[in-house]
Amino acid sequence: MKALVTGATGFIGSHLAAALSKRGYKVTCLVRKTSNLTWLDGVDVRLIEGDCSDRNSLDACVRGQDYIFHLAGLTKAVSREHFYAVNAKGTENLIEAASETAPGIKRFLYLSSLSAFGPRIGGSLPTEDETPHPVSEYGKSKLNGEYAVLKYASSIPATILRPSVVYGPRDKDFFLLFKSIGRGFTPYWGDGRTSLLYVDDLVEGVILAAESEIAAGKTYFISDGGVYSNSEIISGISSALGVKTVRVRIPKSLLSVIGFFSDGISKITGENIIINSDKIREIMYPEWVCDVTRAKKDLNFQPAVDMKKGIIWTADWYRIHKWL
Ligand SMILES: NC(=O)c1ccc[n+]([C@@H]2O[C@H](COP(=O)([O-])OP(=O)(O)OC[C@H]3O[C@@H](n4cnc5c(N)ncnc54)[C@H](OP(=O)(O)O)[C@@H]3O)[C@@H](O)[C@H]2O)c1
Repeated sequence: MKALVTGATGFIGSHLAAALSKRGYKVTCLVRKTSNLTWLDGVDVRLIEGDCSDRNSLDACVRGQDYIFHLAGLTKAVSREHFYAVNAKGTENLIEAASETAPGIKRFLYLSSLSAFGPRIGGSLPTEDETPHPVSEYGKSKLNGEYAVLKYASSIPATILRPSVVYGPRDKDFFLLFKSIGRGFTPYWGDGRTSLLYVDDLVEGVILAAESEIAAGKTYFISDGGVYSNSEIISGISSALGVKTVRVRIPKSLLSVIGFFSDGISKITGENIIINSDKIREIMYPEWVCDVTRAKKDLNFQPAVDMKKGIIWTADWYRIHKWL
């Protein structure tokens, strides 16, 4: 089976490309001229140059593929326009190319995000039947990516997955929390709850969803099924690192100021900074959780790594690779 993976130079995509290749897929990775290929080193994949924002570059990438795993995306951006150009328009470009150049494709798998749905507002865990209400530009652009996929759903068998926060080896975002806890202090802005997913379990879920007949045309939340309080996550990381940490309480009003200055720095330097005003729009909501019953039932998705184990493995990886 031939599979195209976009976003394969990134955190999740690099794990997926390696897993698909190990399972016998002939994997092609769409990479940009500027992509850093470190995580694909030694992985048996073919590289093809393209850019999701450039429609003309995509026909050659999708031609002859059986599966397309679309993971390319911006999780942080210098401007709203950048989010939409890649997460929304980039997704539309790719699925349009698939419908024109690879119409017999078995599955188009789009990795969306819990951010595209939004935070929990009511009492119970949100299910996929509820109406999305994203609160960040990132979330809105990912939801627009979902709409682009749904537009082609009658001609291309497509599945949308909305992972919660994903963590594990190579992740640079959650790593910041490990780093600050390792240094003995933790920024804390109040109680909240989060669904989490270890990267290997996500990769397993992605492959199950792509290969499952029943998943065509459907959308799934995906997490390890747990709901973790901020305190549990902080304790889990400090215990894995063997350190005591002091919580530094940051008032929510100060978060907005931090976001404002980060945006300014980002505009001047052109660098995407993880803590920016868009991320802070999400942080203002305490509950980022989801119900994964549908994925468990339809896909027989059985996450193997709970938070405690996943955090220990991740901390070990950071230590071994001298990130900590
Ligand atoms: N990490 C999470 O917790 C999480 C949770 C839910 C959903 N997701 C979704 O999962 C996907 C992967 O996330 P990640 O954390 O692995 O992100 P990442 O490490 O930042 O990787 C992003 C990937 O997208 C590629 N990319 C960006 N713009 C592109 C473009 N215009 N054309 C082609 N490729 C482009 C990057 O390529 P370069 O190497 O060239 O920059 C990179 O390979 C994203 O779509 C994200 O929305 C992530």
